Amino acid sequence: MFFISILLQLPLSAVLASWAVEYKPRSMCVFERSSVDFTCSFDYPNYHTLQTTKWFKPKKNQKQDGTQEGIFVYHSKAAEIDQLYKDRTVYANRDKNCSLQLHNVSKSDIGKYFFRLETNYLFGKFTGSGGIYLNVAVLPFRVTVTMQKVNGHIQEGDSVTLRCSTETCTPQQGPFAWYKNQLLLPQATENVLQISSVSHNDFGNYSCGLKNSITTSADGILLDVRYSPKNVEITISTSGKIEQGNSLTLICASNANPAVTNYAWFKIRDANVSSIGFDCEFSIKAVSQKDDGQYFCTAKNDMGSQNSTTITLKVNGPTSNRHVLLTATAVFFFVIAVLLVMFGLIIRRKQITRKKLHTEQTPAVTVTEDIYENLRQSPESEESHTNLLYADLKLPSSNSERPCSNTDAVIYSLLSYKE
Ligand SMILES: *[C@@H]1O[C@H](CO)[C@@H](O)[C@H](O)[C@H]1NC(C)=O
Ligand SMILES: *[C@@H]1O[C@H](CO)[C@@H](O)[C@H](O)[C@H]1NC(C)=O
Ligand SMILES: *[C@@H]1O[C@H](CO)[C@@H](O)[C@H](O)[C@H]1NC(C)=O
Ligand SMILES: *[C@@H]1O[C@H](CO)[C@@H](O)[C@H](O)[C@H]1NC(C)=O
Ligand SMILES: *[C@@H]1O[C@H](CO)[C@@H](O)[C@H](O)[C@H]1NC(C)=O
Repeated sequence: MFFISILLQLPLSAVLASWAVEYKPRSMCVFERSSVDFTCSFDYPNYHTLQTTKWFKPKKNQKQDGTQEGIFVYHSKAAEIDQLYKDRTVYANRDKNCSLQLHNVSKSDIGKYFFRLETNYLFGKFTGSGGIYLNVAVLPFRVTVTMQKVNGHIQEGDSVTLRCSTETCTPQQGPFAWYKNQLLLPQATENVLQISSVSHNDFGNYSCGLKNSITTSADGILLDVRYSPKNVEITISTSGKIEQGNSLTLICASNANPAVTNYAWFKIRDANVSSIGFDCEFSIKAVSQKDDGQYFCTAKNDMGSQNSTTITLKVNGPTSNRHVLLTATAVFFFVIAVLLVMFGLIIRRKQITRKKLHTEQTPAVTVTEDIYENLRQSPESEESHTNLLYADLKLPSSNSERPCSNTDAVIYSLLSYKE
């Protein structure tokens, strides 16, 4: 027993200590067509003579633990190198340096690679355990979205992770570039874009790629954030002015995802709220003053609902009423004008009689004659004066466009008022 243990302990420990293969890194992801370096170093007992060095890749159906050699990527006997790797590999071939460079990698290179050395001794064979796992990134990039919820829709407040990768892996080469609806997101430079609390503003198409490179993802992904209706607003469509007899359509517009499924229209009059419709639009064929009031709509989808701001509708009175009013105004001003003219004439008569008294004292007769002539003409000119005044007054009343459009402007400003 003692003898055996001495025999095993001494030579074995000495031998085992010197056999080694070290790989770096243990796994990698590189772009298709690029070159890759397998950094490798090895050791073996001094009294051995190195005979064979090789890099092998187990075939898909073989064990991937290094016990089955598969095909030779590199071999110290060049004839052993597989056709797929001939002229693509460069072996360091220096003292205890087993680094290997592989050029123009492709998807078929994906797999495990092992280094093995063999010496002149029968049991002088050693394979570095674990190997190196090579993954090849095949463009284009694609965006994947993950979130905590399983099988749910993305909604506001959710935490979402967007990952930029290829079908196989993501090379750890940066910086990355992210695009939302084709616009660069300057602050996102990692291959992962984390949104801790999504909002409806995050809805959009996301794509990614490498900065300073045109290799963006071919198809972005739609971040389909679902949200209840936002910015619910009423827009007005009329056949002309909001005037008695004209048609009017109110449209309930909003931003929602998914699209609004239910609409409701309400009218407020004298503090009474009544339901008036359930369509996207609310139309009135011929408006009248009984349509006066405040209106609002409600837009609803699966996520919730929102009420619009209230608009105020003020319908202009019938045209005939306006005519009556304008005629009355015209008559009123006419009467005033007549009174003013008559008053003016009375004043002038008084002034002339005073001047007549003055002229009797002075010999300047011509002056009084002139004034007298003016006076004599005045009864006729009274007519023309009032006509003129009347015409001035009539001008706005006959031109019915002006006051109407003015009131329309007032109504329009009321309509565009938001609470
Ligand atoms: C091994 O060889 C490679 C390629 O020639 C070289 O880049 C690397 O520095 C060498 N490693 C050591 C430890 O000498
Ligand atoms: C790289 O490999 C591909 C096949 O995977 C080949 O079509 C191409 O010509 C190679 N490029 C170079 C530069 O050898
Ligand atoms: C997102 O992109 C797809 C095509 O890639 C397009 O059909 C879709 O309309 C886009 N969506 C948005 C919200 O831009
Ligand atoms: C409000 O509506 C109720 C019921 O329809 C009615 O009895 C009441 O008179 C209305 N109030 C006003 C101020 O119109
Ligand atoms: C929206 O309007 C409806 C009907 O008047 C009302 O019941 C509801 O409380 C309103 N919602 C909000 C958020 O104001």
